[in-house]
Amino acid sequence: MASRSAFRSAAFLCASLPRGINRRSSPADRPTLITMTSNVDTSSRMVISKKACVPPREVQEQITHSMPPQKVELFNSLEDWANDNILIHLKPVEKCWQPQDFLPDPAAETFNDEIKELRERAKEITDDYFVVLVGDMITEEALPTYQTMLNTLDGIRDETGASLTSWANWTRAWTAEENRHGDLLNKYLYLTGRVDMKQIEKTIQYLIGSGMDPGTENNPYLGFIYTSFQERATFISHGNTARHAKEHGDLKLAQICGIIASDEKRHETAYTKIVEKLFEIDPDGTVLAFADMMKKKISMPAHLMFDGRDNNLFEHFSLVTQRLGVYTAKDYADILEFLVGRWKVGELTGLSGDGKKAQDFVCTLVPRIRKLEERAQVRAKPRGNMRFSWIFDRELML
Ligand SMILES: [Fe+2]
Ligand SMILES: [Fe+2]
Repeated sequence: MASRSAFRSAAFLCASLPRGINRRSSPADRPTLITMTSNVDTSSRMVISKKACVPPREVQEQITHSMPPQKVELFNSLEDWANDNILIHLKPVEKCWQPQDFLPDPAAETFNDEIKELRERAKEITDDYFVVLVGDMITEEALPTYQTMLNTLDGIRDETGASLTSWANWTRAWTAEENRHGDLLNKYLYLTGRVDMKQIEKTIQYLIGSGMDPGTENNPYLGFIYTSFQERATFISHGNTARHAKEHGDLKLAQICGIIASDEKRHETAYTKIVEKLFEIDPDGTVLAFADMMKKKISMPAHLMFDGRDNNLFEHFSLVTQRLGVYTAKDYADILEFLVGRWKVGELTGLSGDGKKAQDFVCTLVPRIRKLEERAQVRAKPRGNMRFSWIFDRELML
């Protein structure tokens, strides 16, 4: 789950970068010495910067447009295929669930009673569960970033914001479906009264302002491998929060997490189908892309998370999700194993020399990751406690 991004958390000097790597998207002519908004000292005390518009987390090295331009045509030629095979995995709005289906109805006379019941149920839930649920909700709420990410991809981007290509229709409708996830979790968490909504709202604003660095390089091969992985990761994670909610006796919350997980599963089906098609048309290019993404490691969408206080918030949140078994290093290896099998990577034939090397790399990666993880667990030291602003600075074991 480690990200390859390097953050600057203090004043830094701009170094010259190799060709093909974007130096930074924001003004390259800035003074060489740059002070960041997120200059947070190690004692976690927030320092207000004068440069309020600079993202709190900046990604430094970003490779762009790595797909050869002639391959754009391949995605154009898949327009009809995507229409017939991918758009069918979307649900018509009239058949979709909406957040309101799972929340107290503000127009009903029973509203106050329903809120009371919701809050009673929430009392049985632990702080560490809430931290995980808040982190999941914040991840969902950074949806503008994910739509932007899809629209960075050459050959499939929504060129106008209302383009009628199958790819653009998919991206907008996918975004619209995903929008219900953050909305539902946000409203639910607000009603529980258990979490510090202002701190959460700040974290969302910081995160959207920072963006993300999935390492997809405007390349739809990389992009769709990334989204295949991520949709399965969120399916697993929401499925596990549903299971925990049930164990805490909150069946309604279990239902909320479960219904979100089922959307993620449907989205995973669509994205893995796209990559399956790419393997069919261009096995060499696709296996190279798969190996490339796995060498970089799949970074989590909210890896630039910041609440204005904790400089390692994402890492701390991840440690809690790991401890609760909501999303673990084992899940990372399991997802990879699933994708290797789903795309029958081991059975590819007719590959180039580099393609064969990539195939070997991907097919032998799962046992290597599992072994590394076992060793890391043996060496793991107690990590101590951490205060989370999302739960009014109460302390949790990491
Ligand atoms: Fe989602
Ligand atoms: Fe999703």
